[in-house]
Amino acid sequence: MWGGRFSSRPADIMQAINVSIGVDQRLWAQDLAGSRAHCRMLMAKAIITEPDGQAILNGLDTIEAEITGGIFPFRDQYEDIHMNVEARLSELIGEPSGRLHTARSRNDQVATDFRLWVRDACDRAVEQLQGLQKALLARAEQHAGDLMPGFTHLQTAQPVTLGHHLMAYVEMFGRDAGRFADARTRMNENPLGAAALAGSPFPIDRHMTAQALGFDRPMANSLDAVSDRDFALESLAAASITAGHLSRLAEEIVVWMTPMFGFASLPDDLTTGSSIMPQKRNPDAAELVRAKSGRILGSLVALSTVMKGLPLAYSKDMQEDKPPVFEAFDALTLALGAMTAMVSALQPNTEKMAAAAGAGFSTATDLADWLVRELNLPFRQAHHVTGAAVKRAEALGVGLADLSLDELKILHPGITEAVYEVLSPEASCASRQSYGGTAPEQVRAQIAEWKSRLA
Ligand code: ARG
Repeated sequence: MWGGRFSSRPADIMQAINVSIGVDQRLWAQDLAGSRAHCRMLMAKAIITEPDGQAILNGLDTIEAEITGGIFPFRDQYEDIHMNVEARLSELIGEPSGRLHTARSRNDQVATDFRLWVRDACDRAVEQLQGLQKALLARAEQHAGDLMPGFTHLQTAQPVTLGHHLMAYVEMFGRDAGRFADARTRMNENPLGAAALAGSPFPIDRHMTAQALGFDRPMANSLDAVSDRDFALESLAAASITAGHLSRLAEEIVVWMTPMFGFASLPDDLTTGSSIMPQKRNPDAAELVRAKSGRILGSLVALSTVMKGLPLAYSKDMQEDKPPVFEAFDALTLALGAMTAMVSALQPNTEKMAAAAGAGFSTATDLADWLVRELNLPFRQAHHVTGAAVKRAEALGVGLADLSLDELKILHPGITEAVYEVLSPEASCASRQSYGGTAPEQVRAQIAEWKSRLA
């Protein structure tokens, strides 16, 4: 491609470090789309002739057929996807192929291809996230009234419903989808026509290629267009945050599935056994979802590090942008798919969860709140009285609701029989009617809201 100035072929090591076709052949569809849009624009602006343009478009069709048919010769000697396509085009149609690269550089070409790929990846992520949200919604609806312990510090805190717990993830994944959608909006500008870095002396129409490729507008600065990869970083940041959320849910599934918790199980087809311990049923898929967050966040760190400190405009460092992005989105696709399957198939042990919901003095706050409401105690004093009640119950080896009224009256003489109404986990949940609270009505209201949002 640049033989004119060079008198020797690249050294083997030069080719070895430079070659990227093994990675960027994944951009073939975007590369062909970009070339077609560019070619049509060159024809429309009479920068190339109709017959030449038509020959190029036909050649690109043949290349597409070869690639989808698995017979396209991807060759290391042509370095990357752009030059592989151009070299093949030259073999197929001869002289007109050399006109396709008019008013274009690989710099704006790769920036365009990669933006198109990342844009699709963000769209796929949103779709998958919504699928996961729907799976969570269905389960939350089933379990809107089923009790489980809510935790802080992984210590029993207050009773919640399983539906409420699952809906917390619906919120998180909703924000994740929003981040991908925001990133998409910002990245949807056309780099094509920035050429090498300074723009083009040909009368190109960048609005035309923008429209053909589904971009909102051309990028306004040619240097910026070829040299930033913030769109990829933003998508990796969105992916990293999503992966963090997935990893938390995965961790909960792992914990719930331990015999010690026994809160849930997964069917055989979503677990694995042990080759030595016959009793084992391992939540490998959840563990791997948890682990994928490491690779995804690693990709964000890798690309941020590649990009920092690069002078404008293009540097070859930027060829290293693709592996982390491909790796992160491959991992994310798997993780979202596996999590959706697990959420749909999860078999909660609602009895065990409900029993645990009432254990660990989980309604202590309800007792304190009752003392505030009914006896007008300052909350700090109510907290103290309740602490004494917990201590007494602990000493007797019983729950708060099992303390007799006489025992309670020793702690505060104003306490009446009515207090028992707030000491059950059911009553505790039912009373939390504040907006966004765990009362089943509130949970059902949020489920209905999300259902219409996702419909
Ligand atoms: N394969 C290159 C990349 O991915 C394409 C751009 C090459 N540009 C250049 N000036 N060498 O970044």
